Amino acid sequence: MPRALLRNDVRQYEDLRDEWWRPNGKFVTLHWIAAARAALLPPAPHDRAVLVDLACGAGLMAPHAARLGYRHVGVDLVTPSLEQAREHGVAPIRADVTQVPLADGCADAVTAGEILEHVPDPAAVVAEACRLLRPGGTLVVDTINATARARLVVVTIGERVPGGAPPGIHDPRLFVRPSVIVEAAARHGVRLTVTGFRPSARQMLRWMITRRGTVRMVPSRSTAVLYQAVGTKSET
Ligand SMILES: C[S@@+](CC[C@H](N)C(=O)[O-])C[C@H]1O[C@@H](n2cnc3c(N)ncnc32)[C@H](O)[C@@H]1O
Repeated sequence: MPRALLRNDVRQYEDLRDEWWRPNGKFVTLHWIAAARAALLPPAPHDRAVLVDLACGAGLMAPHAARLGYRHVGVDLVTPSLEQAREHGVAPIRADVTQVPLADGCADAVTAGEILEHVPDPAAVVAEACRLLRPGGTLVVDTINATARARLVVVTIGERVPGGAPPGIHDPRLFVRPSVIVEAAARHGVRLTVTGFRPSARQMLRWMITRRGTVRMVPSRSTAVLYQAVGTKSET
């Protein structure tokens, strides 16, 4: 029986530790989103290229980072998640995403996937991501918009249907407007391009009926629920 915890309490990830890599487990959507995040990353530009994965969880980006040729460093607060990340080839660092004990410019790429909607100061996370990134490096973020539609889709409906978020994992008061992250990144030398994305409706329906296969995330004209952003750090 899970503990009764407040919405967005990070200890929920300890209780959900067995769900990360369980086929069709409670984090199945995060696997689909990780693939969409990886699609925005360039292949590793050199042999020792480093990807810093902020809030790496149990390392769902690991297969993608390996395929693209990165050394994968993962930062998270939750030890059982980091232990699993390590088993998948991630070099784990237990730290807060606003205070990462790594040098300025150490990363060829930084991802901050599905974390900005969990923290009180998402702009501070973006600033930290930009600090870690070397000039010319790539930043990829994805998060949930601060809209009524996102609250309806992700929380009111999403927490009740298979493939949706585990109940209580989000606090919708922390959802993030795109302008917050775009402006924060711009202040730190990264011009972000924002795109909405969503699960393929046909594949989602097939998955809900058969629980087989994967669901591709596809671009959406609307950023009202989920959105991704990508940009490179200026060389000057
Ligand atoms: C929704 S999960 C996303 C995990 C991963 N990025 C993915 O997409 O599979 C959010 C993650 O953020 C971590 N987290 C929450 N607050 C954090 C903080 N302040 N510093 C570091 N990690 C944090 C949680 O432990 C959890 O692993």
